[in-house]
Amino acid sequence: MSIERTLSIIKPDAVAKNVVGKILSRFEENGLKIIALKLVQLSQQQAGEFYAVHKERPFYNDLVQYMTGGPVVVSVLEGADAVSLNRKLMGATDPKKADPGTIRADFADSISANAVHGSDSKENAEIEVKFFFPELSR
Ligand code: CMP
Repeated sequence: MSIERTLSIIKPDAVAKNVVGKILSRFEENGLKIIALKLVQLSQQQAGEFYAVHKERPFYNDLVQYMTGGPVVVSVLEGADAVSLNRKLMGATDPKKADPGTIRADFADSISANAVHGSDSKENAEIEVKFFFPELSR
């Protein structure tokens, strides 16, 4: 086990539903420490850049539209195996396939309005943390 950092985004649907506190508690209760946190309204340019890896996917434009539709809460989570632990807590991308008790099973509505984003690898976590919190880069 190694101490890692990962990026979490609580998406516009979950912010609008007033479940930010409940989602942050899931992280804390499962041993992840919130070491940076902010509420942001993403611009189209920021969302487009952040999700650039998905540029060729058919859902890219809708994803950028969706992520700019309201404020999001971006945080950096730190702890043992933070990247995979956060993904386990989130559940599958499609909430219909997410295990019971996961964040997406409990709070997400659809594959687009799926409550949270979490880095999918250590490498992407570094890139994503730097994107939102350049001051944390070490
Ligand atoms: P996220 O973890 O933020 O990474 C990319 C996002 O694209 C994903 O969560 C989904 O919300 C969104 N998305 C929309 N449609 C699809 C799809 N068909 N397959 C995968 N991701 C999708």
